[in-house]
Amino acid sequence: MADQIRVLIVDDIPETRDHLAKLLGFESDIEVVGAAASGSDALESAEKVRPDIVLMDINMPDMDGITATERLSATVPTAAVIMMSVQGEADYLRRSMLAGAREFLVKPFSSDELTSSIRQVFQRDRAKLGRFVLDSAVAVPAGANEPGRIVAVFSPKGGVGRTTVAVNLAVAAAQDTGCHVVLVDASFQFGDVGVLLNLNPKNKSIADLAPELEATGEPESLDTFVVRHSSGIGVLLAPPSPEMAELITPAGLKRILEALRLKYDLVIVDCSAVFNDTSLAVLDMADTILTLLTLEITSIKNMRLFLEVADQLGYEPSKVQLVLNRADSALGIRLADVEHSIGRKVDHSIVSDGRSVVYALNRGVPFFLSNREAQVSQDILRLATAVLGQEVARAPERATRDDRKPAQRKSLFAWR
Ligand SMILES: Nc1ncnc2c1ncn2[C@@H]1O[C@H](COP(=O)(O)OP(=O)(O)OP(=O)(O)O)[C@@H](O)[C@H]1O
Ligand SMILES: [Mg+2]
Repeated sequence: MADQIRVLIVDDIPETRDHLAKLLGFESDIEVVGAAASGSDALESAEKVRPDIVLMDINMPDMDGITATERLSATVPTAAVIMMSVQGEADYLRRSMLAGAREFLVKPFSSDELTSSIRQVFQRDRAKLGRFVLDSAVAVPAGANEPGRIVAVFSPKGGVGRTTVAVNLAVAAAQDTGCHVVLVDASFQFGDVGVLLNLNPKNKSIADLAPELEATGEPESLDTFVVRHSSGIGVLLAPPSPEMAELITPAGLKRILEALRLKYDLVIVDCSAVFNDTSLAVLDMADTILTLLTLEITSIKNMRLFLEVADQLGYEPSKVQLVLNRADSALGIRLADVEHSIGRKVDHSIVSDGRSVVYALNRGVPFFLSNREAQVSQDILRLATAVLGQEVARAPERATRDDRKPAQRKSLFAWR
């Protein structure tokens, strides 16, 4: 049953473990998901069974309950510990609480005391987690700095200039607005960000975060995987080979973006053109989706489809901004025709400048750095200023972020 409270019992005395399991066996809302005889056993089991509550004896051979609780808060932070001890001294209580225990029960305790403590701790923790982790939105601990803005650079068609725009936008924002910027290459199969910035492919990538996301659910060593570029931006590279793309789950990616936005003013994500659960995770979380199109009939057709989907997903029209790239290379299609066809105005334009763009690409130096005066650089700067200068009414935005259920969202893929 989904709503059951999952409990792990940790005590070195087998009779105590059996007794506790029997007591809890009578409760329909509590499920005993495991038992462990020592602190180290407890850590191992908790990683496997992911309990909501750990009933932890304090005195055990090998690793005591206090040490196990401390370690558990790093490895399985979602498990709340209720400490059990025959000693009720203040020092034990204090040390347990410092280690991260949520409750302290002095043995012997009644069945009622036990079950009501479990329910109380579970409810308190659930409420707290709810404030930190909303399904598709972000919550910030009270008093923390305002979280950064997530800007997804997306297009429903490949090859229209997403990476070019994402890279130069990141550099422009860092250099001209003094923002603390990180660029995430979410084109997990064939990411090009490293090439455009001439970064060593042997650098760490987002794939290196997969093991710890799987183990603890949190990208704890994220900082070590963000590569510094000489322009001042941080970069989280795509995996070095396509088959590693599947290591990154939508949930893991959300955690990464949440963690990044707490450290950076601006998180720019170079998305892939594929529309799947992973790209949807980015689009959901983004404050702004810069959606690129070019003056080509296929690009326009896909844009129309994407705008319909964005509407069904409940995205505010202002969240999705249209960027016309290579705006002056018309070859038969006029801007007015495009706007008529997709039923909305283009918000930003970037000129076509093959010389500057391709030369920069092949040298691995963003054109915003090497050819600052070019019109294409000026267009990028204008885009950066427009995106960053927007009124960021974040709190209400977060509260109304899409929260429809997965089943409902799945059906939205029917358009493909
Ligand atoms: N404004 C521009 N002027 C001239 N060339 C451009 C412009 N923007 C992008 N290009 C060129 O278009 C090509 C595709 O650009 P880019 O790799 O940035 O697109 P993408 O959407 O990221 O593609 P992919 O689907 O491969 O990820 C590149 O050769 C790039 O140099
Ligand atoms: Mg690209």
